[in-house]
Amino acid sequence: MDETKVKRHKPDAPSRVIAVINQKGGVGKSTTVVNLAAALGENNRKVLIIDFDPQANTTSGYGIEVEEGEPTVYEVLAGEASLEDALHETCVKKVFLVPASIDLAGAEIELVGADDREMALKGALEGVRDHFDYVLIDCPPSLGLITLNALAASDSMLIPIQSEYYALEGVSKLLDTLAAVQARLNPDITIFGVLLTMYDRRTSLSAQVADEVRNYFGKRVFNTVIPRTVKLAEAPSYGLPVTQYARYNNGARAYLQLAKEVIRRG
Ligand SMILES: Nc1ncnc2c1ncn2[C@@H]1O[C@H](COP(=O)(O)OP(=O)(O)OP(=O)(O)O)[C@@H](O)[C@H]1O
Ligand SMILES: [Mg+2]
Repeated sequence: MDETKVKRHKPDAPSRVIAVINQKGGVGKSTTVVNLAAALGENNRKVLIIDFDPQANTTSGYGIEVEEGEPTVYEVLAGEASLEDALHETCVKKVFLVPASIDLAGAEIELVGADDREMALKGALEGVRDHFDYVLIDCPPSLGLITLNALAASDSMLIPIQSEYYALEGVSKLLDTLAAVQARLNPDITIFGVLLTMYDRRTSLSAQVADEVRNYFGKRVFNTVIPRTVKLAEAPSYGLPVTQYARYNNGARAYLQLAKEVIRRG
């Protein structure tokens, strides 16, 4: 990786590190990281994606294959590689990615005995984050040590919520975790926003869930909602964000609109 490409740009505003998090599985975390990053890149913002899930859905969503011996976020956490060493360019200008691999599942156990075991990612991001406008971290569907590393390293969190039954299930556990992280690891972390995903305009259920989520989280819910659309589900199998796979699709438009809202929020 040509490091000058990364370092040439120095944003005017301080960078923002955002953990995309919900311990509930399949709510649209990885889809949001892939497509929000691409939409921010299209808005001329420089973005670093950290794939922090052993499932590596964001890595494959960008069509990135890690070659034998190439470092991933696992080696970065283990102190065996720097974050710069693990960076990949993506098909979107200004969007860079640190890949995950299944090895990351082992980190959950291996880190347990380490000093400052929740601080490994924060340490690795130091000096690097300032070269980006946004750092987006794709969290796994759990609240273990990997997720704690993400929260310790982040300024804020973005919570995708699926517009389905039991949408708010588990949210109180997530907020308990946030409070514990604020008390112990990262006092300044806040909720950046709550995003309704897989919204289906044809059903009253989606509207009901949206009301419920807006009542619970108030202004923190983004005005933009992400529609349920097959193009968003298909794009990863082509290794492309939806803005490149199906530019005029509703899902692409929604993520571009979300990027504008994210930029407006600072
Ligand atoms: N708006 C959408 N419309 C249609 N399908 C979607 C949408 N968002 C996500 N999906 C699909 O739903 C599934 C789950 O999405 P995704 O992988 O983004 O969730 P996740 O929260 O990252 O899951 P996990 O908890 O396993 O990491 C995927 O198959 C994805 O393609
Ligand atoms: Mg995921």
